[in-house]
Parts: sequence; structure tokens; C-alpha cells
Amino acid sequence: MNDSPLIDMRDIRKVFYTDELETHALAGVDLQVAPGDYVSISGPSGCGKSTLLSLVGLLDVPSAGSYSLNGTPVAKLKASDRARVRNREIGFIFQAFNLIGDLRVAENVELPLSYRSGIGRGERRERAVAALERVGMAHRLNHYPAQLSGGQQQRVAVARALVGEPAILLADEPTGNLDSKNGEQVMLLLNELHQSGATIVMVTHDDRYAAFARRQVFMFDGQVVDEDTLDKLRAEEDRRVRELASQQLSVQARRAVS
Ligand SMILES: Nc1ncnc2c1ncn2[C@@H]1O[C@H](COP(=O)(O)OP(=O)(O)OP(=O)(O)O)[C@@H](O)[C@H]1O
Ligand SMILES: [Mg+2]
Repeated sequence: MNDSPLIDMRDIRKVFYTDELETHALAGVDLQVAPGDYVSISGPSGCGKSTLLSLVGLLDVPSAGSYSLNGTPVAKLKASDRARVRNREIGFIFQAFNLIGDLRVAENVELPLSYRSGIGRGERRERAVAALERVGMAHRLNHYPAQLSGGQQQRVAVARALVGEPAILLADEPTGNLDSKNGEQVMLLLNELHQSGATIVMVTHDDRYAAFARRQVFMFDGQVVDEDTLDKLRAEEDRRVRELASQQLSVQARRAVS
């Protein structure tokens, strides 16, 4: 691993408060990602994967812990600087594509550039077309998202994520809404981007896709754990669920004969 990580998170915690409930979504996470790395994050539903990704992507702030992005302690940034860093350094790909329905394909892809000063209309379009060429979607510039298949929409979303040449691509279940053929295509696309130098952090439920990454990170209950620990914790959880189910069955059986 490179000496200076691009992403350097130490003892990151995130607590959500709702009415009477306090959820410790992240309970002390350390994560270092070197430039050019490709990391997958997996673990059971609710273990904190999306929360972690949104902190990495500066969409939210941690409750405690330190985070340096490319050597800059993020907590010291003003809101306007955070927005600028997010726009320039980070590209997001979401499970639900999140394209804007009343903008055409090319306009969707141009959008991140339109928040930057100094990029004229002509250059925006040129860069959008180049990004769409990379994902094999340049033949649909004037379509609206609803006129595309799910796989095509996700390829457009990948083009939008990479058009600004961000340092990091963050993908949260990028294949979650796709069938396996389209899912594989998106994964191959991410592989290509990684080979051309992109740093990628991808959340996935799917072990097959996690294996595409160069490094796999596993989470359980708001913490990073190693694979063996995760297997043990999962087995323990399965055992508890089975035990509860059998208790339930015996209650029902007793009721049935009483
Ligand atoms: N905005 C919020 N307000 C309150 N609780 C939240 C909020 N966002 C997430 N949580 C809680 O934090 C925990 C972690 O959620 P998170 O979305 O990070 O899980 P996840 O690992 O991405 O799950 P999944 O695989 O289902 O997407 C969950 O218990 C969730 O209910
Ligand atoms: Mg999630």
C-alpha cells in the first residue's frame, strides 16, 4: 500500500438520533484506501455500509473520529469547500441510478461540470460525449432516462460519475437493480476504470461482484471485521434465528394440542 492513503479514516463513529432511538450506525471504523485501489465493502443489511460511503463521499459528517481525504483533514473544511471537494474529487454511482428524469442523457452527464466555473458549454458537451463514449452510450445523447433500459441508465450514471475526472468513484450497490447480464457489464466497466487508474470503493451484497475488487472489507454492526469473524457472527445470527423459529414452532404446536 502507498504511504499516503487517499482516504484515511480513523475511529469513525456515526450516531443517528430519531425520536427515542439512538442508532450507532458506525462504531469505530478505520479505513485506509490507497490511490488506485479498488475496495469492496460487504456485510449484512443495516451494518452501516451506505453510512460509511456517504461519509467517505462528504455527503454527511461523522459524529466522531478523523477523516483525511488526500491529506486534508475534512473536518476543517468550510461547507463551501466541502461541496467543491465533493464535486471535484468524488463521483457517485447509486443503486437506483438517480438520473434526472427531465434532462436528456447528455445533459445529465454534463451536470457535475455545470457546477464548476471556467468550463464553457462547448467543453461541457465535449467531455460529456467523451464520458458517454467510454461507457458505450454516446448513441443515446438525446434520449431521456425513461427511454433507456436499466443497464443503459446505470452506464449513463457511470459516465456522469466519471465526467469530472474525480479521484474517487464511490458505488453503492451499483448492480442492485440490474439483471446479471447488465450487472456484469457494469462490473466490467468498473474494472476498466480501475485499470485506467480510478480509485474505487464499492458496496455490494453480492460475493461474486465483491471478488472483482482488489481488496474486500467486511462489516458487521457498524464495525469492520475480518472475513472469518464475519462468517462466525453470521453463523451465530443464523443459529439464533433458527432457535427463535423452533421456539415459535413449539409454542404453536402446544397451542394446537391444548
Ligand atoms: N438518516 C438516518 N437516520 C436514522 N437512522 C439511520 C439513518 N441512516 C441509516 N440509519 C440506520 O443506520 C444503520 C446503518 O444503515 P445503512 O444504511 O448504513 O446500512 P447498510 O449496511 O447500507 O444496509 P443495506 O445493505 O440494507 O443497504 C441502520 O440501522 C439504519 O437504520
Ligand atoms: Mg445500504
